This record gives sequence, structure tokens and C-alpha cells, in this order.
Amino acid sequence: MSEKTYLYVCTGCGKKKKSPETASKGNGDTLLSKLQDVCQDEENIEVLPIACLSNCDRGVSVAMTAKDKYHWLFAEKGENDDDIEAIVRAAKAHASLHDGFLEKPDRANPVVARIPPIKS
Ligand code: FES
Repeated sequence: MSEKTYLYVCTGCGKKKKSPETASKGNGDTLLSKLQDVCQDEENIEVLPIACLSNCDRGVSVAMTAKDKYHWLFAEKGENDDDIEAIVRAAKAHASLHDGFLEKPDRANPVVARIPPIKS
């Protein structure tokens, strides 16, 4: 069975004072709430808050992790339908894969980082 996928949504994004050029296009709290609603019946996806993902100039940032799978960091997300659809599509694909390696069409671009699973 494939491991559960965890989505960490930065709730700091959208709160910190930024210049117009680096301000988040969305609000992390709102994105978290919408993703939790959309994913509430998904047994293999859990959506959790995190205070900061150290990607503050390209927020709203969303990290995707799972045991023994590739980890991903996505940027520039907002609470609009297109971004939510892209994140959920990526999470569903990630949850269904044994290694979490997303093909390009399944990524919630832009991707900031792709981190390999720990080698055991
Ligand atoms: S405040 Fe969101 S990544 Fe730092």
C-alpha cells in the first residue's frame, strides 16, 4: 500500500509585510482552509498548517511529503480554483505513486524543490 501524502500549507504567507514585487499572491490561511475542505474525504491526503517554509518571497508555499517518497515544494499559490485544482491533482498523483515522483503534467508548478526520499 502507498504511503499517505501530507500537504503543508504555509500560513505565514500573506501575513508578512512585503514589497509589491515579493508579496504573496494569496493568503496561506485561506488556501489551507480551502484545501482542507476539498481533501476532507481523501483518505490518503492530509492537509496541515505550517508557519513558514522558508520560501517567503515566492509564497504561498506548499510542501508535499510522505514516508519513503520524493518531497516537493511548490510556490506562488493562491486560493483560486486553478491553483487548488493543481495542488489536489499533484497530491492525488503523489499518494498513488510508490515513490512519489511526479511526472511534469502532475506537478503544481512552479516547483521550487524536489527532494529524494531517504535511502534505506
Ligand atoms: S511565510 Fe510562507 S514561506 Fe515563509
